[in-house]
Amino acid sequence: MATSSSGLRYIKRFFQIFFLYLYNALFNKIPFNFLRIFIAGFFMEIGKGTFIGFNVKILNDKGRSQIKIGDNCSVNPDVLLDGREGQIVIKDNVDIARGSWIFTLEHDPHDDFHVTRSGDVCIESHVWVASRATILPGVTIGEGCVIACGAVVTKDMPAMSMVGGVPAKVIGQRRSNLKYTIKYDPLFNV
Ligand SMILES: CC(C)(COP(=O)(O)OP(=O)(O)OC[C@H]1O[C@@H](n2cnc3c(N)ncnc32)[C@H](O)[C@@H]1OP(=O)(O)O)[C@@H](O)C(=O)NCCC(=O)NCCS
Repeated sequence: MATSSSGLRYIKRFFQIFFLYLYNALFNKIPFNFLRIFIAGFFMEIGKGTFIGFNVKILNDKGRSQIKIGDNCSVNPDVLLDGREGQIVIKDNVDIARGSWIFTLEHDPHDDFHVTRSGDVCIESHVWVASRATILPGVTIGEGCVIACGAVVTKDMPAMSMVGGVPAKVIGQRRSNLKYTIKYDPLFNV
């Protein structure tokens, strides 16, 4: 009995991982937004009015609540969301530009056995992550913050700051009153 239930668990897990593989290899390239976003919703919690672009990659074999995206966000093409160990929480009206990577898992460079370490990532409301930014495990990005393109964010960043560079440092203050609601639903998106 024990063997058959562990066998069933193995089969279930195999199909879960295979389904995620199919999403990352095929379904995230479906040209119809509603269908692509519907399938992405099997692997993460997606709020109302949130857009998930073409070829967004999801790493997450722990369940949907590992990656939570709020309402009216825009997650653009080629973004990587890594929820393998830590949780990714993205609040409302967050704009993540093309090619950005968000990691919750890394290796400890000083460990003799190359062990991994992890941390949750939280992106507060009205953050704009410009293109090709990288956010490392354990980082919280304050409300309204702008991450300039190409930045590597290694530490928590204060609300309403503009940050850039490698490693990211404050390069200015954002002056917007954040009155916008993101509504992005292009006909086709590549
Ligand atoms: C954030 C951004 C809009 C610049 O904002 P800004 O307020 O106009 O900033 P400024 O150009 O006045 O620059 C302010 C300072 O930050 C520096 N800076 C600007 N962009 C930077 C970047 N990406 N990385 C590091 N430093 C940067 C500037 O050199 C300047 O430094 P200085 O004061 O020593 O001269 C721009 O960096 C950016 O990321 N654009 C997004 C492009 C993109 O991803 N487009 C696709 C998505 S829509």
